[in-house]
Amino acid sequence: MDENGDLKDLIRTIPDHPKPGIMFRDISTLMLEGGAFHETIDRLADLIEGEEPDLVAGIEARGFVFASALAYRLRCGVLMMRKSGKLPGSRVSIEYALEYGTDMLEMHDDACGPGAKVVLVDDLLATGGTALAAVELLRGRGAHVDQALFVIDLPELGGAAKLREADIAPLSLVAFE
Ligand code: PRP
Ligand code: HPA
Repeated sequence: MDENGDLKDLIRTIPDHPKPGIMFRDISTLMLEGGAFHETIDRLADLIEGEEPDLVAGIEARGFVFASALAYRLRCGVLMMRKSGKLPGSRVSIEYALEYGTDMLEMHDDACGPGAKVVLVDDLLATGGTALAAVELLRGRGAHVDQALFVIDLPELGGAAKLREADIAPLSLVAFE
């Protein structure tokens, strides 16, 4: 029995997007339902109950939606992990592989002090390339990161296993095989 099946039922699947063979799990349909979105944030908060992070780091673009709402609930700050060319200040960058292509992630180099406790947040974990890149940037600035929250995990793509190898606990609400 899937204890988050109510949320799973609100995530739409679009076959062959953005490329043939990809079953795209579209979280925008869940986001449109106010009660379900609220419940999603509460359940993400429950996954890290007792933790008091200094910052929630959200990954552009869909990760921002969940990270900011979660930070509001936790009363902590939000750190933006952005795609390249968007941040105005001095920044650090990393290129990473995606399920389909490559991309670059950046953060302001003064966004968190050494020793800051940071929880990573994104909408979806697939190969883990994006989350691992974010962790590398954060740890490179001295942050402590050992938990990453996702609404969706695609376990067949192996991201959770890769995060565990990097001493990150992957925590998610819904899995799609
Ligand atoms: C998606 C998703 C994650 C990432 C997961 O973002 O929101 O950030 O891919 O894939 P991975 O685990 O294989 O790295 P996408 O790159 O599509 O960017 P977007 O949110 O800006 O659309
Ligand atoms: N949905 C949304 N984002 C993604 C997916 C998906 O199925 N796979 C990789 N990134």
